Amino acid sequence: MSGTQHPPSARISRRGATPGHGEKGDRVRALWWEGRTLRAIDQRLLPGRVKVLRLSEVKEVAEAIRTLAIRGAPSIGVGAAYGMVLASFSKGKDASPERAAELLASTRPTAHDLFVGIEQVRRAWADGSDPLEAADAYKRSVVEECRAIGEAGAPLVTTRSRVLTHCNAGALATVEWGTALAPIRIAFHDGRDPFVWVDETRPLLQGARLTAWELGQEGIRHAVIADNAAGHFLHRREVDLVIVGADRITRSGDFANKVGTYEKAVLAWENGVPFYVAAPWSTFDPKLERGEEIPVEERGAEEVTHWGSVTMVPRGSSARNPAFDVTPSKYVTAFITPAGLVAPQELARVLSERRSRSQGTERSAYHPSGPPRPARGADTRGAPSSSSPSTSPSTSPSRSSAREGRVVLPAPHRGTVRGRATRARSPR
Ligand code: MRU
Repeated sequence: MSGTQHPPSARISRRGATPGHGEKGDRVRALWWEGRTLRAIDQRLLPGRVKVLRLSEVKEVAEAIRTLAIRGAPSIGVGAAYGMVLASFSKGKDASPERAAELLASTRPTAHDLFVGIEQVRRAWADGSDPLEAADAYKRSVVEECRAIGEAGAPLVTTRSRVLTHCNAGALATVEWGTALAPIRIAFHDGRDPFVWVDETRPLLQGARLTAWELGQEGIRHAVIADNAAGHFLHRREVDLVIVGADRITRSGDFANKVGTYEKAVLAWENGVPFYVAAPWSTFDPKLERGEEIPVEERGAEEVTHWGSVTMVPRGSSARNPAFDVTPSKYVTAFITPAGLVAPQELARVLSERRSRSQGTERSAYHPSGPPRPARGADTRGAPSSSSPSTSPSTSPSRSSAREGRVVLPAPHRGTVRGRATRARSPR
């Protein structure tokens, strides 16, 4: 892996892949193909340094994904697709579609996009088609879908909207535009002036480091809050809507996202605040019905016990570090998809219709031969074992009121689908 350094204020020009100081509205781009290499902003170093990695071997791409230099489900999927292209150039032991796919699939088990990105190129390579064309086509479709998510979700974000988001579901996580941030971005560029509450997102601070950086690049008003402050602002009516991304969404609408999302969803529900989940089609896993089937990545305990070289817990204390949690669909007001808003109770039907319309040409996902391996360095010594969270809601206020073809909201959210619920206070 080699890299180029740029000043922290650099951003990616709309016109090309070169970081620069462009006009207002220039968009951040997380990764791109250049010559015979994958270039990617090293997300571990933001916001202090903008360093662009130059990745020329599949094992470097796998390492970049594993260590979160490339992160966020759609970016992981596109990065892996180009990782497959690099493997196809190689004369070494990874120079087979299956070996390269296995290596990349072992990096992060939760993001469904990873397996979709791998499969697009694996199939092309195995069929004798051009792997690079397949990766480029996949990247284009992800970017287009994220833009469509932005258009679909932008009407939810009014001038006075105060939006809470968790983790980073912006351009860094999706190549361009973002999922949760795309509606905010498009509303902002349409002349609205939304305000974003940014959860810091322990333990790796994707919100504080990355979302705040992206919003700052474009001049979108925001404030970073400690993860445990979200309830305070929700309760005080200082949040109008919540928008988050996802790593995997099941047919029932249960979904995995960055750990901490579940508690935000429950708090939003408790306080009558609409809760939206924005995702491209590659994040939807039509093979899974319920949340408890989603593999949840557990990462190394040192991400919790240390910050850089600083030890934050007493010697001998153990730690657990689930990277994601699973939120039951009953807390979701609607999914913001490239095709528009979809209520959870409509999701299975929408996915089935997409499948039958595509007549077998839909983007399928790679199936690794074995179960996902645990993350390197995961240390669970002395900690209680995990048990699968029950994500089957005993009551689902939204399911009973399903209607064909329109968003039907659970009772506490009725009348707020446009995110225009009036709130007592403004952060201004
Ligand atoms: O561990 P990360 O940083 O890859 O987790 C990312 C998230 O949880 C994002 O919210 C998710 O991938 C959605 S990205 C559009």
